[in-house]
Amino acid sequence: MEAPLKVYKGLEGIYVLESALSLLDTENGKLYYVGYDVEELVAKSSYEEVSYLLLKGKLPTKAELEAFVEKLKGEMQLDEKELETVRLVSKRSSGMDALAAYFVLTGRGLVDDGSPMDQAIRAIGKAGSVLGNVIRIDGGEDAMYPDPSLGVAGNLIYLVTSRKPEPYQIEFLDDILILHAEHGVPASTFGAVVAASTLSDVYSSIVTGIMTLKGPLHGGASEAAYQQFVEIGDPNRVEAWLEKALSERRRVMGFGHRVYKIYDPRAKIVKAMAARAAAIAGGRVKALYEVASRLEEVALTKLAPKGLFPNLDFWTPMVYTAVGIPPNYFTAVFAVSRIVGWVAHVLEYWKDNRLIRPLHLYVGPPAGQKYVPIEERH
Ligand SMILES: CC(C)(COP(=O)(O)OP(=O)(O)OC[C@H]1O[C@@H](n2cnc3c(N)ncnc32)[C@H](O)[C@@H]1OP(=O)(O)O)[C@@H](O)C(=O)NCCC(=O)NCCS
Repeated sequence: MEAPLKVYKGLEGIYVLESALSLLDTENGKLYYVGYDVEELVAKSSYEEVSYLLLKGKLPTKAELEAFVEKLKGEMQLDEKELETVRLVSKRSSGMDALAAYFVLTGRGLVDDGSPMDQAIRAIGKAGSVLGNVIRIDGGEDAMYPDPSLGVAGNLIYLVTSRKPEPYQIEFLDDILILHAEHGVPASTFGAVVAASTLSDVYSSIVTGIMTLKGPLHGGASEAAYQQFVEIGDPNRVEAWLEKALSERRRVMGFGHRVYKIYDPRAKIVKAMAARAAAIAGGRVKALYEVASRLEEVALTKLAPKGLFPNLDFWTPMVYTAVGIPPNYFTAVFAVSRIVGWVAHVLEYWKDNRLIRPLHLYVGPPAGQKYVPIEERH
């Protein structure tokens, strides 16, 4: 007898592609990019160098990195026409939508716009400059020219705050960008690869990735975690809040992960950063951190036995706040960083492209239903 057809809901446990980009060691709680421990990359590398690593599959020599950074700096510039496009998308939308809209309006992948690698580097360079300006405009300021000499992280903070960032702020955001750069095939990367498999262009994949990342079960969790800390308001209220939330079957935002059933290795790194951010910035960051720390402590007693631990998004709100990113833009910063992961997967997938076209199991009415004219239906 033939085995019954099975639907792999959520594609859980299904391998959909081969990739040399990242290794998620879910048993030991480690994450590697192209074989390099992400903890070491955060300590020693930069977002620019990690972008090179993911795009080219190896760490650059000094000369290679300098040439790559020069090219990236050129792409980080926005001319007056590009600033006008940012103003236009910001007038009609905000956040992730504005970022995606920018790439929809400027994506020229189907006409002559350099190689897919050139387009990838262009998108990585433009994204932070565009988002920084979208945030400015949303805050009532006018768009301004980027300062590529500050690097991707520093330039983004500069655009958002209109001030040259402190070195510790650049370091924090650079580390956050590294940690968000790549993570196998979550929904957004899968979406980007599905778009690419149709032989659409690099920009289409980026737009698909951005819109898929937006949901609160994926990239949107950090903002939800921030709102949750604000709602709790005080470490002394954590216990009562958690008891009520769990009794209402609400989820603790920033807890749980489809793949990690132990402490997310990225979350461990960001937790230490959040503690440092609270000590340096004080004020609001410290207040958020105190609530988060207490919530982690109490929630772990209930959720750890179920394999639910803090993920990256639990701790990032404190770091984003310390560098001046408004909460409704946390996910968009994640998107800016993850563009490199999306495009690296796209370039890798195109080396041996196969249209992605799964099957569905039909469960509707039997075939051959009689069509009844509309006047005779009741
Ligand atoms: C990330 C997430 C979607 C992964 O979930 P998943 O693998 O699909 O797990 P499920 O949704 O099947 O949940 C399994 C069980 O854990 C519980 N659970 C999962 N995440 C939970 C959370 N954050 N808080 C409380 N309970 C949670 C579910 O209610 C479910 O319980 P049940 O079996 O009693 O019904 C989920 O953990 C979640 O929604 N987390 C909060 C959002 C978040 O932080 N997302 C960022 C991911 S990086």
